[in-house]
Amino acid sequence: MHTNWLSWFEKQSRLTQAKGLQRNIEVNPNEMTSAKNGVNQYIDLTSNDYLGLTFNKDILSAMTSDAITKVGAGAARLAGGTYESHMMLENMLSEFHGRQAALTFTSGYMANVGAISALVGKDDAVVSDKLNHASIIDGVLLSKAKHYRYRHLDMVDLQQKLEIAVTKHQKILIISESIFSMDGDLAPLREIVDLKNRYGALLYLDEAHSIGVRGRKGAGLANELGVENQVEIIMATFGKAYGSFGSYLVADDVIVSHLINHCRTFIFSTAMPYPNTVANIAALKVVQKASEARTQLARTSQYMRDRLRSTEIDILQSSSHIIPIVLGSNESALKIKKILSEQGILVNAIRPPTVPAGTSRLRLSLSAGYDEEDMDIVLSHLLPLLKSHGKVSA
Ligand SMILES: Cc1ncc(COP(=O)(O)O)c(C=O)c1O
Repeated sequence: MHTNWLSWFEKQSRLTQAKGLQRNIEVNPNEMTSAKNGVNQYIDLTSNDYLGLTFNKDILSAMTSDAITKVGAGAARLAGGTYESHMMLENMLSEFHGRQAALTFTSGYMANVGAISALVGKDDAVVSDKLNHASIIDGVLLSKAKHYRYRHLDMVDLQQKLEIAVTKHQKILIISESIFSMDGDLAPLREIVDLKNRYGALLYLDEAHSIGVRGRKGAGLANELGVENQVEIIMATFGKAYGSFGSYLVADDVIVSHLINHCRTFIFSTAMPYPNTVANIAALKVVQKASEARTQLARTSQYMRDRLRSTEIDILQSSSHIIPIVLGSNESALKIKKILSEQGILVNAIRPPTVPAGTSRLRLSLSAGYDEEDMDIVLSHLLPLLKSHGKVSA
């Protein structure tokens, strides 16, 4: 047994550092420069603020208006922490998605962990894409359901896992992201829906990276592909394209009612703060009208993907505003990120365990606030660095 705790933690830290996996908290330098002179001096491709709404005046003024007389909700939703604005937000969300009901949470992580562990239990199975987000994996672990992980986007493997699961378990929940957070590729939702219908499963779809960006009025990828009503549970977060904070899911009344009664992250945690509910109502209105920003984002993303694909760099199967540049080595990813930052460009270096070992990468997360000219600036700095790391020949 260890008794010298400090030395145990120091050893862990040394091991993490030796593998190039140490994580450090850094202040976003745009915050400092814009506070000084009102302009962002860095091109920021780290943010998930896909529509550029974190500074949106309508949302900001809703949040700071005189009508806001309280900060926190004061209690959990079922214990006095529900206000008219929670109800209004949930009504607007169910209407937006054309579903019977909506339920809000304080983050996407809380929604996934709580909802998944309330929807299935030890007699059930979850069949989940191998690259699903950590919050999904944690929800499954907490549920005690049997966890089958199918190869990323592989419908043959999904079907094989379903074949096995139907013979052994009560309920089967298929879980996928719609746009994958680290690869930027898209789940084949129509095929997934066909399979879930064929095997009598439920489908839980995490639209964290597609909400606001895809679909009619930004209602997400399932909406764009015409299968929204066939997905039993759609989850989305306010922390990305909405430019705000919090999350929600939409589903039929009976499922939402089950979650209100069994979802522990909903029942046992203080409700979304009142100012956030008001901001999220404003953000929902802004997102629905943001078709120009969606078009701009799609255009810039296409341009950037095409430019990168014309080199030899591996951007996987990205077909969205999330563009991975796979380098393999942790050190290369950290080094290029650092040099780019010194040159005024912010990108994330993504390493294990966020991505599989040997696939460390830069993650470019584009925003409607940027255009092709901005991407040319990024490329003029990025391509020579990739070349010096042997990743681009010309
Ligand atoms: C796919 C996916 N789901 C859920 C989450 C969690 O959302 P939030 O940041 O609102 O907790 C994230 C965010 O990183 C995500 O990428």
